[in-house]
Amino acid sequence: MTDLHLPLDRGAGRLAAQIAAGFRAAVRAGRLTAGTRLPSSRDLARDLEVSRGVVVAAYEQLTAEGFLIARRGDGTRIAPLARPDDPAPAPPIDPAPAPLPSCDIPPDPGALYDLWPSQPDLSAFPRERWIAATRAALRTLPSDELTYPDPGGVRPLRTELAGYLGRVRAAVADPGRVVIMNGVAHGLSALVRVLIADGHRALAVEDPTSVRQLPMLEASGIRLVRVPVDADGVDVAALARTNARAVLVTPAHQYPTGVVLSPSRRAELIAWARDVDGVILEDDYDAEFRYDREPVGCLQGVDPDRVVLLGSVSKALAPALRLGWAVAPTGLATRLREHRGQTDLGAPVIEQYALAEFLRGGGYDRHLRTMRRRYRSRRDALADALATYMPGATVHGVSAGIHLYVELPPGSHEDAVLARAARSGVSAAGAREMWSAERAADAPPALVLGYARIAESRLVKAAQLLGKAVTGGTEG
Ligand SMILES: Cc1ncc(COP(=O)(O)O)c(C=O)c1O
Repeated sequence: MTDLHLPLDRGAGRLAAQIAAGFRAAVRAGRLTAGTRLPSSRDLARDLEVSRGVVVAAYEQLTAEGFLIARRGDGTRIAPLARPDDPAPAPPIDPAPAPLPSCDIPPDPGALYDLWPSQPDLSAFPRERWIAATRAALRTLPSDELTYPDPGGVRPLRTELAGYLGRVRAAVADPGRVVIMNGVAHGLSALVRVLIADGHRALAVEDPTSVRQLPMLEASGIRLVRVPVDADGVDVAALARTNARAVLVTPAHQYPTGVVLSPSRRAELIAWARDVDGVILEDDYDAEFRYDREPVGCLQGVDPDRVVLLGSVSKALAPALRLGWAVAPTGLATRLREHRGQTDLGAPVIEQYALAEFLRGGGYDRHLRTMRRRYRSRRDALADALATYMPGATVHGVSAGIHLYVELPPGSHEDAVLARAARSGVSAAGAREMWSAERAADAPPALVLGYARIAESRLVKAAQLLGKAVTGGTEG
């Protein structure tokens, strides 16, 4: 049996003794730990190609020695008292784990009011429906599909996503353009590598932006050029002054300012891409959540040969699923697929089928409808409370997404406000680190507040505490 590593030498005496010795050695080495369930004597005998009586004899011997416990209905397990002779020393606990990029990772998981942006309401994950989708997928999945998948994603998921993105985001999507990635972050880092292979040397990135992505993009070797964002979105004239032919944008809801790319800028951006024979990477990270305005179709739908649409289930369901997609021009989609084939052989198959099933059965749409209602009400509660408790602040980006961008009253000191808020139990992100060093000094002090995970009444209290933090007070 290969996974128990029980070597047998058929010319070297009693097989039952050899099996027993193999188990003892595995327990002593710590390879088999207390509670581990062993295969039935019948299965192990079949795997080892010995008679069942040989295994029964070995199990009885080990049970007598206290290595194993056999209980009716619970099979045979390694006994709790069986200890490795020489337990391997516990790995040292790293006293200072390498810091994660600060954006999106709550600095204080114990905060009373966690307004850290970018997280959906994880407590609302539709567990039962996801279980049902997984069960349905497993029931129907042909065994042959359990091999290495198409590295670009399984066909049923690409087909469902193409339909969904066409319907909901007005994307030009067919299964041949859709490549399954482990989220937007993975899609981006794979894409920049493909772009580098195509001769791209620079990638333009909005300023401000999500700082989490910067080191990831830089690690590819591409040079990042920051381009300012104003009230209409990314400044295309400034973009045209760079020598980049690729740009990463968040048109539906700029991260972090919440600006929606204006119609004229959308047209300018597409014209720029055509002019320079360039490519637009459209990060559609929270586009499902739109409250007070008609949904704006994605840019990719305007020019599917110039725009790559990147999205994921991270905001709609949970980041933990690590499932996302790129919808790319066919040539680029093929190279992305090849890239996956060369780097990681594709995404987990059962999850892909489960998501396909979830989309097909309407579970995704239903969940989004519920969450939109919930988030809208939380957004209203926070925006109203900020108007009351932080009257000098200007709130941006309310029409969509799951965060607000709050410019603090003039004269506020961002770090001091954050520190006072933290002392009152409110965790929030400051905007300064999201700007380039060049622009950070002139950037208005601002907070980025995620409201998805906190009920209305607690958001009101958090806004009150933030208001106090702005005026210099704290509440213990
Ligand atoms: C603007 C933006 N883009 C992309 C991502 C990454 O999302 P994913 O989980 O799909 O990799 C995030 C994560 O919070 C984000 O804030």
